[in-house]
Amino acid sequence: MEEYEPDTSAATSFLALALELGYIIALALDAVIRFQSTTRHQDPVHLTAHFLSSATVGPCEVHVRIIKLGKGAFTTLAASFIQKGQEKVKLHFVFGNLSVPESHKTTRPDMTVEPPPPYAAQIPVQNHPSKCSLLPEQPKWHYLAEQQMKLARDPMYDELLWKPGPMEACNYVTLTDKNEQLSYQMLPVFADIFLTFAAKNPKLPSWTFWCPTIVFTMEFKFPLPKPGTRGCASRTVAAYHKGRFLNEPHGRHETYMEVWTAPANIGDGPETEIEGWRDHQRCLAIAYQMHIMVDVDAMPGGSTKQLKTTSWTPPKL
Ligand SMILES: *[C@@H]1O[C@H](CO)[C@@H](O)[C@H](O)[C@H]1NC(C)=O
Repeated sequence: MEEYEPDTSAATSFLALALELGYIIALALDAVIRFQSTTRHQDPVHLTAHFLSSATVGPCEVHVRIIKLGKGAFTTLAASFIQKGQEKVKLHFVFGNLSVPESHKTTRPDMTVEPPPPYAAQIPVQNHPSKCSLLPEQPKWHYLAEQQMKLARDPMYDELLWKPGPMEACNYVTLTDKNEQLSYQMLPVFADIFLTFAAKNPKLPSWTFWCPTIVFTMEFKFPLPKPGTRGCASRTVAAYHKGRFLNEPHGRHETYMEVWTAPANIGDGPETEIEGWRDHQRCLAIAYQMHIMVDVDAMPGGSTKQLKTTSWTPPKL
């Protein structure tokens, strides 16, 4: 198969839209974290979001309900993201405690499978942030335009990105403000920074598509690194994505994501590269999204121009 020259300007405009989806989930997750903040189960363990209709920029309500109050490991909850009286997103959550109690260590062997390999998975980058170049800032990437985040791609994926085969890459994402700290609420936002496999389809004549997400799931794998943890930056992650299958009808396809801790912030010098830095990184969350393709130009009143001019400034999480 020949190498395919994509219309990347359109793909990046899609990416700007996609960020909003992660942000909606982040708002709902924030509501549930507050709801659970005085209980034994304060950490998110799993979430599922079903998108029922598109949300708009403006006021919202999040209604939270307990499905099962757990006496043991987990509490199960439901939440609705509501705008103007209409349920836009339906979510389910499992909450628990991501920390390992001391007593575990005496009652049975520790079951955690941790790097280094061969059994454990390792961060899916080869290069330290100090060896990765900043992705050029694009005004359509609103977070970047607002300079709240910086992105740098591991060069090992630069070659792979538009080659025949899966859509696969891993970016470092740094929160620009030096006072920022990673939070659980931010992980769905990071898990939504990707290029869709649909954009790589060699049969695609031009990119006039919007790829709404129908279902998003995330499993939180590991507690956030405490500030000052050796070898882990406190405001940077590595966000990996891979998409492989695309089927009709509806151009249905998927994106699999991993959000990892990162060894340093984008912009930190080479002296921050410590021996064995890859073995210090942990996968914070894995995510999966199911999307469809909607041809915007074929929609009544629709136009790809509208997509490209979406303007939105996210409040701080
Ligand atoms: C979570 O587990 C850790 C380790 O056992 C414990 O120190 C902490 O108090 C627990 N958190 C809550 C909210 O119970």
